[in-house]
Amino acid sequence: MKKLIALVLAFVLALGLVACGTATTEPTEQAAGEAKTYKVGVAIYQFDDNFMTLYRNELQSYFESLNNDTVKYDVTIVDGKNDMAEQTNQINNFITQGMDVIILNLVQTSSADAVIKSIVDAGIPLVLINREPLGDNGDESYAGILDNATVCYVGADARQSGTYQGEIIAELADHGDINGDGKVSYIMIEGDPENIDAQYRTEFSVKALVDAGIEVECLDDQIGNWAQAKGQEITANDLAQYGDQIEVVFCNNDAMALGAAAAITAAGRTVGEDIYLVGVDALDECVEMVQNGQMTGTVLNDHIGQSHAAVDVAVAALNGEPMDNYYWVDYVKVTK
Ligand code: GAL
Repeated sequence: MKKLIALVLAFVLALGLVACGTATTEPTEQAAGEAKTYKVGVAIYQFDDNFMTLYRNELQSYFESLNNDTVKYDVTIVDGKNDMAEQTNQINNFITQGMDVIILNLVQTSSADAVIKSIVDAGIPLVLINREPLGDNGDESYAGILDNATVCYVGADARQSGTYQGEIIAELADHGDINGDGKVSYIMIEGDPENIDAQYRTEFSVKALVDAGIEVECLDDQIGNWAQAKGQEITANDLAQYGDQIEVVFCNNDAMALGAAAAITAAGRTVGEDIYLVGVDALDECVEMVQNGQMTGTVLNDHIGQSHAAVDVAVAALNGEPMDNYYWVDYVKVTK
């Protein structure tokens, strides 16, 4: 009998502990002297992405640096695994868990309407990052949604990065025309085609050359989905097919440029001598390659500026301040 009572007691105690444990994670007004805890949900489109990994780590450490005796940010970061259904579930969980603010890097911008609506309806402030959702007409005035003072987009204008890539080539002594035939023959390796960054970088890199009065010839334009392995595969195939005709390799990001650089070396070509190579992001290894001539240039996609801006606006929203629709962070040209 004693044993039974002891067991029952232990069970009741355990229940009490579990209940206490749950209670402490609630974002409640804390007693005087205790820190107030805000629950922050961060949904990233895919952890397996070089640039978004830098971005995500900086988001987390910047939030940590803001913790103090009176306020704490309890940050949960989830991996959408590049699967919109998975991300929709994660967002629904964030809503059920009562997140105080959500930072969202959409898997599919075409699904933005539904996801944003469910977050707005739940009364949770939302900071969209990195993948700018466009309105139904493909315009940028994402009217109706971004008009809401609890939703905003923090990012960089991809047109600027594309323009800088084109300018890096146009500013070379031979303007990218290595073989002197009067035109720049290039291959283009694109990121995820649904992504405005990929669309604008593709369009504006070439436009910058054309605007500088340079004739261009596109030998190939393929989708590399931001991935290094695809960048390498596409470049290797194109070098085998077009050989010396290729003067410039445009990559929508640095991960793909890293792959392209490997393919260029394997084909016995030399950047800066018989071919040019540009990317975007300014990953550390690519900045080094620009310095030692293995890449012609890249464009800094400022993950520190963007993540800090996203956190600052999320914190402002938690303090009840209304949001602007857009917060822009500049790209920076990187050459030797
Ligand atoms: C871009 C970046 C890419 C990739 C992509 C994901 O801004 O340049 O490397 O991270 O975002 O949406």
